Amino acid sequence: MATDHEGIAQAPGALPIVGHLFPLLRDPLRFLNTLPSYGDLVQIRLGTQTAVVVCRPELVQEVLLHDRTYDKGGPIIERIGNALGDGVASCPHSAHRRQRRSLQPAFSRACLREYAALMTEKIDTLTIGWSDGRTVDVAAQMYNFASDTISRTLFTAEAARPAIDTVKECLPDIFRGIYQQAVLPPWLSRLPLPPNLRYERARNRAWAAVSKTISLYRQDDETHGDVLSMLLKTQDDAGEVLGDAEIHAQIMTLLVAGIESTAVALTWAVHLLCQNPDVQERLRTETAEVLGTRTATWDDLPRLDLARRVITETLRIYPPGWILTRTTATEARLADAVIPPETTLIYSPYLMHHDARFNPRPSSFDPDRWLPEQEHVRGAFIPFGGGARKCIGDNYAMTLATLALSTIVAQWRLSSVDHQLPHIEPRMTLTPHGVQVRVECLQRVPD
Ligand code: HEM
Repeated sequence: MATDHEGIAQAPGALPIVGHLFPLLRDPLRFLNTLPSYGDLVQIRLGTQTAVVVCRPELVQEVLLHDRTYDKGGPIIERIGNALGDGVASCPHSAHRRQRRSLQPAFSRACLREYAALMTEKIDTLTIGWSDGRTVDVAAQMYNFASDTISRTLFTAEAARPAIDTVKECLPDIFRGIYQQAVLPPWLSRLPLPPNLRYERARNRAWAAVSKTISLYRQDDETHGDVLSMLLKTQDDAGEVLGDAEIHAQIMTLLVAGIESTAVALTWAVHLLCQNPDVQERLRTETAEVLGTRTATWDDLPRLDLARRVITETLRIYPPGWILTRTTATEARLADAVIPPETTLIYSPYLMHHDARFNPRPSSFDPDRWLPEQEHVRGAFIPFGGGARKCIGDNYAMTLATLALSTIVAQWRLSSVDHQLPHIEPRMTLTPHGVQVRVECLQRVPD
């Protein structure tokens, strides 16, 4: 889309050749938040390409609900497909229903209950290295925790352990690389520059580790009660089992879509509890009543109400998936604008959650805004997207984060070492660095 269109405002400040690349790489959140002041649909430029940012909840809903018209596709999704294979998150509408149906049983409530037992086991090990008065790098700890738990949910067999370690090592470079590949002009992302090479190397290593695990599973023919075992047995609507390439793409997709977003959500939740000690104390009262000194389990979830609201409010303030795209498959009419085929549209949960017209007092951390009696603007809270492409792991992530946060708060008092806002690195997720937290043990062993 090279021309300007009626009903679509132009974001000012585009430079020749690079367009809005600098604000998008340097301070994308501030840049995004300026856009609604220009209109409901605002065109920005990524190098020589353009994209339209959708700035009203009802328009975002229209985009999300009409997934045939507003499809996955275009250069950004192509690059994600190149990194992960054509899995459920990047495939076009024509392949999506089938792929989603084959994956959905692995995220049923019954499965989730089983995964929760593994979550509880992993939460027990999360704080093993913590001691009274120690300073903890929360982002690194949460990344370890989420990657161990999610990769073990996908493949539990002992033989998969080396693959889990490789994937864990490679994912940060993959996450960083996908974002850079998505915003850089294609010619720049193809040059043999160190970040591009790092990304390629990490992607190839993770790719090979997952391939090896699939063939190990195929050889031993055992069922391990994990997502990979389930996928190997799944038949599609035509009664065909899934091929290796499709299973590979789904596993890569789940690893990439699941691990960092969940780790980031937990890191931000800890940061926000440090900034808001009154909420932390209220949460401790809840967890003391429900858990006492033990680790949270699936059966505790209905009573961990404030913990869930704390996570929900964290996802509002810092939605890990902060910028997402669609491409018009045909000409579309959105608000007053006629949008040509193959236009890239951007929706941003961050932008939506921070627009005071739709989320009053957007910067204040207030878990009570999620009490059942509170009213909300429809479509203005979208941390997991919406429509047919809504996050398949939303309940998994909420369960894991609620159980982990409740257990931590029941056993440890958390305070910031540094009162500065953590450095935010915009990758595919809104990644915080430098969340250094002092932990105080609340469960002293009697002398
Ligand atoms: C707090 C944690 C998480 C957040 C904030 C999050 C957010 C999102 C968002 C916003 C989307 C929609 C993308 C779009 O509209 O283009 C999405 C899709 C997806 N997520 Fe998550 N996610 C989280 C955790 C997980 C987990 C734990 C898994 C799996 C283990 C997962 C797997 C997926 C998959 C497979 C899709 C693609 C769904 C489809 O297109 O049918 N996510 N996620």
